[in-house]
Amino acid sequence: MKAHQQKWIRHFENNRLNRKEPEWDLPFVMEEKRRHALAWSLAEYQLGDGGGPCCLIAKDAEKYRATSASTREVTDLWFREEAEHSRLLSGAVKRLQGNFVTDTLAFRQFQRVRRLMGAQFEMLVLLQVEIISTVYYRIIRRHCEDAPIAAMCGLILRDEVGHISYHRDRLSADHPDGWNALQRMWFYFLGYSCALVLWLGHGWALRAIGMKNSDFFSQVHRGLRSFVRSFHRRCVSEKNPGFSNDSLGNVCSSYTIKSRT
Ligand SMILES: [Fe+2]
Ligand SMILES: [Fe+2]
Repeated sequence: MKAHQQKWIRHFENNRLNRKEPEWDLPFVMEEKRRHALAWSLAEYQLGDGGGPCCLIAKDAEKYRATSASTREVTDLWFREEAEHSRLLSGAVKRLQGNFVTDTLAFRQFQRVRRLMGAQFEMLVLLQVEIISTVYYRIIRRHCEDAPIAAMCGLILRDEVGHISYHRDRLSADHPDGWNALQRMWFYFLGYSCALVLWLGHGWALRAIGMKNSDFFSQVHRGLRSFVRSFHRRCVSEKNPGFSNDSLGNVCSSYTIKSRT
């Protein structure tokens, strides 16, 4: 078993505890234009965030999960939290009197990309989606003015911050020398592509609740840069055990701080 897997299995088990369900029954008041935009956006997001196939679906996914018992367990625990996101988002869609979405062209294309390219690429793309999703949920939490939906965003952000850190540890175990310039460029290219897809699909809804485009893209850039820096710090600390991980900081804490803003 890889050391980081044991740590993340413990994390996922502990993270199930002390989760306060959003108070979905609180009185609901929201301007109609904002309600419509949020309901539409969160219904689509519910499909993508655990509402579709909630597992790795790459053609070699089963081969990857069978690498070891701990790989299977940690991967399944990660997706168990994704299923929880879908459940929470369903609560928000009901509160907003939205219509659930079961299929879209963009969702089908995304599934196709995940299937075709192999488990490692699928997990890299899912990491990008998680980084961009933290921007999405932070914007909604800041602008939605509805306590239960803001609380839901807080719960999902707490999980996604963990997922991003899990990927950092997983990737640094697989790439102890870090990424070269080409790999970093590829990472940023994928990240900005994911952000563009989200902005093209959901930008109008986020603007309707008060988001500024410049905020969205600056937060995306900060999220991607924060991950790359944290990943390389982790690689350095793994190769130099004398370095303290705490002194180097980690993406989990930096995301936690940002998620409060
Ligand atoms: Fe999620
Ligand atoms: Fe996630």
